[in-house]
Amino acid sequence: MFSREAIAALKAARSVFVLTGAGVSADSGVPTFRGTGGLWRNYQATSLATPKAFANNPKLVWEFYSYRRKILAPLKPNPGHFAIASLEERVSSFTLATQNIDNLHRIAGSQNIIELHGNIWEVRCSSSTCKNAAEPWENCQVPLSPLPPLCGDCGGHLRPNVVWFGEMLNPAALSASMRAIQEADFFIVVGTSALVQPASRMPLMAHEAGVFVLEINPEPTELSKIVKESVQETSGAALPLLVEEAFAVQ
Ligand code: OAD
Repeated sequence: MFSREAIAALKAARSVFVLTGAGVSADSGVPTFRGTGGLWRNYQATSLATPKAFANNPKLVWEFYSYRRKILAPLKPNPGHFAIASLEERVSSFTLATQNIDNLHRIAGSQNIIELHGNIWEVRCSSSTCKNAAEPWENCQVPLSPLPPLCGDCGGHLRPNVVWFGEMLNPAALSASMRAIQEADFFIVVGTSALVQPASRMPLMAHEAGVFVLEINPEPTELSKIVKESVQETSGAALPLLVEEAFAVQ
């Protein structure tokens, strides 16, 4: 499945950067965005995942995320998530940047995680002037009326602590990713259609810097013809094999 060169490069790597997308959670039963049955296929993303949609109808958007949490709650990490957590233990420097908001990487044991698009299990105040930090969604599970719940500090509506269309990423997440990419000598991009900036630029930056970029995705993407190696396989099948071959993990 993997070239000898890829295995040798990963084995010798001092610093590994992994970028994941919805495809890594597909093996756990989480719908992707653009594939068949994808979330954005079934919902007009722009009518639910934008600041304007929330301003127009905060209750509808809040309920959409409650629905997504209901789907996610029983789902578990899959072998792909666990393989990434196992890889982190085997390299001296490791960074995982995920576009996923489902928290499955953390549940699988990954430590150094940059959540580029936030975390559906956190909420924050929607007022741009409020200093209130993000907090666990459970904290606001009091009998909810009105929906969405209101910020205890300023009375603004609470919102999911996720990035919506048209919103900037958290600058700290971006700068931490850039720093880690500069240090990386092996880059794995897995389970993403590589269509959404700035995440989709990350593998290209590493490739342009001469870093070995390995893509894992059952479908070809814009990256497939550019990066050093592209393996058309699911993450749940490929990632455990990759870690086993590189680190002879039994
Ligand atoms: P997409 O739904 O755009 O792409 C999912 C990718 O996963 C596709 O390339 C599939 O081929 C691949 N895939 C499907 N099953 C897989 C499997 N079992 N193993 C590995 N890969 C598999 O999801 P993302 O690329 O993550 O942003 O989308 C990026 C962002 O667009 C999301 O974070 C979200 C969306 O708008 C925000 O919500 C801000």
